Amino acid sequence: MTDRRWDSALYEAHHGFVSRLGEGLIDLLAPQPGERVLDLGCGTGHLTQQIADSGACVTGLDSDAAMLRQARANYPQLRFIQADGQDFQVDAPFDAIFSNAALHWMPDANGAAACMARALRPGGRLVAEFGGAGNVRRLYEAFCAALGDVGQHVPGRFPWYFPAATAYSALLEAQGFQVLGAQRFPRPTPLDGEDGLRNWYAMFLGEALERLDAGGRERVLDACERQLRPTQWRDGHWVADYVRLRVVARLRQGP
Ligand code: BEZ
Repeated sequence: MTDRRWDSALYEAHHGFVSRLGEGLIDLLAPQPGERVLDLGCGTGHLTQQIADSGACVTGLDSDAAMLRQARANYPQLRFIQADGQDFQVDAPFDAIFSNAALHWMPDANGAAACMARALRPGGRLVAEFGGAGNVRRLYEAFCAALGDVGQHVPGRFPWYFPAATAYSALLEAQGFQVLGAQRFPRPTPLDGEDGLRNWYAMFLGEALERLDAGGRERVLDACERQLRPTQWRDGHWVADYVRLRVVARLRQGP
């Protein structure tokens, strides 16, 4: 996992769309009563609770202490564990792994896939959605350009893992999964309110902003808004250029 720390209050206040938009993924998981399900990268636990509502026995896993504090406060009856999604072990195998908007924070994708394979029983399923190739390209390029304009170092590489469907399928297959479906699709995502774009940058690229003084921050955010308004401001709100990769796979039964 990247070693960033999350602002769970900002996440809860302005980024509820992340779990809202993940609800459809739970239908695809179709959790059954009594099934053991791991919610990998559970964040503040809203989808973990929805999986539990089906009667499944769910565990939420996240690497971030602030997110888990919030998850435990939101849902004290659920089980949450703190672990790195790229390097974890479980006591007993799960029937299914669910992951929404989390795998792109794990640059060691092979490590994450190997852990998922070890954590599932043979025949167990993986249902995951995260950023696919091209995700948030416009938002990120505008940010890098604006940082450059105020004389700041522009990050040399994308800070997230956004693979193509073919590459990610091959990676899963190499870890013993049979990929049943992998679709990459644009999902333009409305952000909350007039300040939606600023809040998005503060939430997901806050560390770069924090290196600037208050004036520099304003110049960067103003420049992003100016550059993106013609394409990303629609019908009274900002729209992030999200691209999703949705994957359904099953762990092979044997060699
Ligand atoms: C996402 O696709 O959910 C995402 C990726 C990187 C930063 C923020 C959100």
